[in-house]
Amino acid sequence: MKTLTITRPDDFHIHVRNGAILKTVLPHTAKQFARAIIMPNLKPPVTTVPQALAYRKEILQAVPTGIDFTPLMTLYLTTSTPVSEIKKAAASEHIYAFKLYPAGATTNSDSGVADIKAIYHLLAELESLAIPLLIHGEVTDQNCDIFDRERVFVESSLTQITQNFPDLRIVLEHVTTSEAVQFVKSSGSNIAATITPQHLLYNRNALLAGGIRPHYYCLPIIKREHHRLALLEAATSGNPKFFLGTDSAPHITSLKETACGCAGCFSAHAALELYATAFEAVDALDKLEGFASFFGADFYRLPRNIGTVTLEKSAWTIPSKYGEHENIITPLKADEDLYWKIQS
Ligand code: NCD
Ligand code: ZN
Repeated sequence: MKTLTITRPDDFHIHVRNGAILKTVLPHTAKQFARAIIMPNLKPPVTTVPQALAYRKEILQAVPTGIDFTPLMTLYLTTSTPVSEIKKAAASEHIYAFKLYPAGATTNSDSGVADIKAIYHLLAELESLAIPLLIHGEVTDQNCDIFDRERVFVESSLTQITQNFPDLRIVLEHVTTSEAVQFVKSSGSNIAATITPQHLLYNRNALLAGGIRPHYYCLPIIKREHHRLALLEAATSGNPKFFLGTDSAPHITSLKETACGCAGCFSAHAALELYATAFEAVDALDKLEGFASFFGADFYRLPRNIGTVTLEKSAWTIPSKYGEHENIITPLKADEDLYWKIQS
């Protein structure tokens, strides 16, 4: 049987939610990844160090016994975040980054930042303390076509941020366009990007051709084929600026399959297998370990993990759902076959 053994990977962008859904989704991530950067867009958002520490405890309680998993916490930036909170975060061993959501850009981003200039004093503090800023890179102008929102953000806001704060450590999260890839490639080593499995595997036909498929709807929205190819080239190039961040973002099925469905794909159930499928398609399985297990840890100045995971080439069918009762979640590729599986 064909197998692939790599150093245990990390997921540098995930939504694990809280309450009952957390218990359903977290075991999938803990089984595959040693560590994960936890997004703070709860309701209400995680804006303070004590809130993040309480959330971290809740996450640790959901880790199945016998599994070693470390949540890497982040704080949600708002215009009223005090500079002192950034100093407190820097002093905490559990907080690894701040997240910038343009107000209204995506799920639970109402408390985000409407005018990025209003937080320039906070960006200056992050820059001087060398704390990574994680950016949801889309403009929120309702007149901007949804397929252009990332490109316009890169050309306008991101270019201004990097000019004003040249040493700020930035992760442009879940990049989806060739323009974002090009921007990251041509920037200094303090600017990196995460890439999701859905943006490596699908173009916008998966979402819209032959019927509307809500489980492929996420933000930033899946783009044209030439963007997918640019992402795949970046992910498999061995360039350490691009690393794994699933953006697994579970919503209960009834909130996806409705007239105004929520944005977010749940991919934690098969994250590494989905990436392996994408890498294998361009004959680049030898590049998976750097992308999944080394480059993110290096960027975050964390030690690389000890231990390995083994993927085997064996077919299985993804279940139609995970969870139960009022917490049913439809996974990415539900009821479809995958040809890689993690050995348990
Ligand atoms: C995320 C969510 O549901 O929290 N949704 C998504 O489509 N990716 C938020 C985000 O990362 O944009
Ligand atoms: Zn996300």
